[in-house]
Amino acid sequence: MKGIILAGGSGSRLYPITKVYSKQLAVIYDKPLIYYPLSVLMLGGIKEVLIISNEETIPLYRSLFGDGSHLGMAISYKLQDAPRGIAESFILGAEFIGDDNVTLILGDNIFFGEIEFFYKAVAQHKSGAKIFGYRVTDPERYGIVNFDRTGKVLSIEEKPKMPKSNYAVPGLYIYDKDVVEISKNLKPSARGELEITDVNNEYLKREELMVELIGRGVAWLDTGTPQALLQASNFFGVIEERQGLKVACIEEIAFAKGFINEAEFRDVIGTIPQSMYRQYLEKVLQEFEEKR
Ligand code: DAU
Repeated sequence: MKGIILAGGSGSRLYPITKVYSKQLAVIYDKPLIYYPLSVLMLGGIKEVLIISNEETIPLYRSLFGDGSHLGMAISYKLQDAPRGIAESFILGAEFIGDDNVTLILGDNIFFGEIEFFYKAVAQHKSGAKIFGYRVTDPERYGIVNFDRTGKVLSIEEKPKMPKSNYAVPGLYIYDKDVVEISKNLKPSARGELEITDVNNEYLKREELMVELIGRGVAWLDTGTPQALLQASNFFGVIEERQGLKVACIEEIAFAKGFINEAEFRDVIGTIPQSMYRQYLEKVLQEFEEKR
């Protein structure tokens, strides 16, 4: 399984934050937003990741993550020179995907809590598409799943004015390699974008779409407005302070998942400037050593 993070776009709703760089670098409590989706891929065991973004922001991601080797990963970058739609990810990522399955996560989507559903989905994915349904109070803002009475999926509708259900499709999608050819054959929508919802409806037509509903133990947080950013920051601030554990700490996850060994973890910590973040990682290492 390969992973793509789509992390470009204009982010105009967050102007002026997004005047100089993309929204996925906005701060969520103590780290940039993109750490959260990256950590979801890592927790799913995905080591090969392509970050797609615009010209201004790719250098910034590169200085954050480099080639990923310090995390035991292979992180590469691809330019999207204009926001032509989420499904363009698969055209831009065609070579990267090759013959493998791929998970796409939107760089502004945060998941927290009982996310084992995702690990399982990654581990078990053979072919076709798997997407998720998450209950929300404002369905008109998302791709929405329409079900019949028996729970069978009839269609996915992008931002319907009259939503037929409260189940939104979060920005976390798993596909087989056919997604490349499907995306190449899409026509731009009325808003001029290659829509991820059209990809999902094509899989549905082929009877290869699986929709799994995710429960209330999962937090899928919105980051679309300044208020949502503040709420997400508060959410993680409360949790991290209460437990003394960090969420989306990529170096810790790389070590915990066995992407890097103890010596490599120590080396990584050595490259981090003196900070609360470094002190935290030193504590993680110390606790590991004490347990041995
Ligand atoms: O968040 C989940 C929703 O994401 C889904 O329910 C919808 O079906 C899906 O269309 C999408 O809706 P949005 O309208 O919220 O997508 P938005 O245009 O805001 O793009 C999502 C992220 O992807 C955003 O951070 C910017 C980035 N992006 C978007 C486009 C269209 C790109 O990097 N390039 C693009 O071309």
